[in-house]
Amino acid sequence: MTEQAMQVRLDAPADAAAIAEIYNQGIEDRVATFETRLRNAEDVAAWFDGVHPVVVAEDEGRVIAFAATSSYRPRACYKGIGEVSVYVARKARRRGAGRLVLQTLITACEEAGYWKLVSRVFLDNTASRHLIRSLGFREVGVYEKHGQLDGVWRDVLIVERLIQGNIEP
Ligand SMILES: CC(C)(COP(=O)(O)OP(=O)(O)OC[C@H]1O[C@@H](n2cnc3c(N)ncnc32)[C@H](O)[C@@H]1OP(=O)(O)O)[C@@H](O)C(=O)NCCC(=O)NCCS
Repeated sequence: MTEQAMQVRLDAPADAAAIAEIYNQGIEDRVATFETRLRNAEDVAAWFDGVHPVVVAEDEGRVIAFAATSSYRPRACYKGIGEVSVYVARKARRRGAGRLVLQTLITACEEAGYWKLVSRVFLDNTASRHLIRSLGFREVGVYEKHGQLDGVWRDVLIVERLIQGNIEP
């Protein structure tokens, strides 16, 4: 598989099961999230609310990666801030899919009027830190002991990316 062969597009309801499968690999790997409950298609279908963009990459008709936004806070003043996550199927990592979906998501968010994307990353998630830094995210600081994963307190790095087109007049 090459980056050229991959196709990227906005999500469709039929993608929910494939997205759940990829997300569950990330949960099982214990590298990316405090979540431990595996998701199904129904859980993921709730992400498609018409407000928060979700992008998928396909290779030979199979979804291999996604980048998704979700609500940062319910307050109206934060409506232009999206929480972002990006997951690539285990077998498809390190081939450019993560970069492709995240870059496309940033563009989709700009078009949707978002002015900032934020996320939190485990400090030892080298792959994620490298990817998001290369796409213009800034490491803001560290939340200490932000939660427990498998009974161990974990620190997380807060990251943000401004979307200049929606900030400057
Ligand atoms: C993080 C993740 C999304 C990266 O996606 P990917 O498709 O493997 O990454 P890409 O091939 O697009 O590579 C993007 C950059 O990251 C670098 N990178 C990717 N994996 C890396 C690793 N394990 N170690 C160091 N750098 C890595 C690549 O070299 C590339 O950098 P470059 O453009 O300077 O060469 C993927 O590893 C993944 O799904 N991990 C599990 C879930 C996760 O951690 N999600 C992020 C938390 S929300």
